[in-house]
Amino acid sequence: MSGITYIKRASQLITIRGGTKEPKRAQDMSDIGIIEHGSVVVENGLITFVGSDVEAERYVHTLNGHINTIDASGKIVTPGLIDAHTHIVFGGSREKELEMRLNGAKYIDILKAGGGILQTTSTREATEEQLIQETSKRLNRFLQYGVTTVEAKSGYGLTLEDELKQLRAAKKLNEKHPVDLVSTFMGAHAVPVEYKENPDEFVRLVIEEMIPRVAEENLAEFCDVFCEEGVFTVEQSEQILEAGKVYGLKPKIHADEIVQFGGAELAAKVGAVSADHLLQASDEGIKQMAKSGVIAVLLPGTAFFLMEKPANARKMIEAGVPVALSTDRNPGSSPTESLPFIMNLACLTMKMTPAEVLTACTINAAHAIGRADEVGSIEVGKKGDLVLFDAPNYQTLQYNYAVNLVDTVIKKGQVIVEGGALRDVPVPTT
Ligand code: NIG
Ligand code: FE
Repeated sequence: MSGITYIKRASQLITIRGGTKEPKRAQDMSDIGIIEHGSVVVENGLITFVGSDVEAERYVHTLNGHINTIDASGKIVTPGLIDAHTHIVFGGSREKELEMRLNGAKYIDILKAGGGILQTTSTREATEEQLIQETSKRLNRFLQYGVTTVEAKSGYGLTLEDELKQLRAAKKLNEKHPVDLVSTFMGAHAVPVEYKENPDEFVRLVIEEMIPRVAEENLAEFCDVFCEEGVFTVEQSEQILEAGKVYGLKPKIHADEIVQFGGAELAAKVGAVSADHLLQASDEGIKQMAKSGVIAVLLPGTAFFLMEKPANARKMIEAGVPVALSTDRNPGSSPTESLPFIMNLACLTMKMTPAEVLTACTINAAHAIGRADEVGSIEVGKKGDLVLFDAPNYQTLQYNYAVNLVDTVIKKGQVIVEGGALRDVPVPTT
């Protein structure tokens, strides 16, 4: 990543500065560090200057070598967006579920009947190479929406080898695709049909065989579990997350999505980095999350797609819980890569403000995946991951809904998307 990239004359540079040590909470989520008429310089992939156009001109004069200058007049510049919760690596598709749900079937009942996540075990039939090819296309779309870092969970293989295959695909994509991936092991995503009569035996498999291998091969940083009525109990979830901790996997949890189940409380108890979904989280659970510093990763696109009432973001922000937002990109409850649309939904369905959603998709999302020291804000020393949106101010981004205003995406100083179109991105192979 050599070279100098100079982005100048942004109508607003949205730095999101000041949240690297701790995620932003409460009123701090609205402090997005705007520099009017601002510039950024990236050298060898890292940000070396952030400031006003006037100061930038002086700084740039001191530099030697070719400078790629990008004029951001009339545009805002934000940090590369971060998606802190996806199930992006999978095989097969589940489009029939929409008609089933429109005819009255419930998401959880489709799963209990052996469909849903259990149908995506068609991932077992895909080779690692096929998973890489399919996932590359999804990552390319993420880039076009301004997303430069994504978290990726396993959980569609549900056998030792198939879980490893998903995680190995994510690892190779991280090495070869411009988007950075952060992996989460989620073997406890559903109880596979072959263990239907003996779910505890599957929990044992996850704890005693899968977690040690995932850690041994260094395939994940986090461990997640679908803690939900009819899926994994609070006790089973706790056992799995504690076992993950022993192997250095930091806990995350799909909590209180469908029924109020004690997931938020468990997140606080095990010291989870994040608790995600939280549509039904209790007041006590929210209070405990705030106290323990658990990040709420909210997924309003999932609520929208499943036609449910979204999480109570305002209550969480007021309680002092740091909030992040994500697509939850997966084949069943949220088939979209459009993080900007999720930001729109956060405003329109959860009453988050345009400033709060920017914090939620940048620095707070970076904290939710352990990358706040590298990405999530435009500050000296961080990666040169930047997005130019065709909007004169940050409010315009949320006012135009379901419209892709991404003009340019810069990854570690390199232009990857130009005029809204992807430059040649090589499709990684195994
Ligand atoms: O986060 N809730 C559990 N897991 C995913 C859905 C996965 C799927 O339906 O394939 C979620 O919504
Ligand atoms: Fe999920």
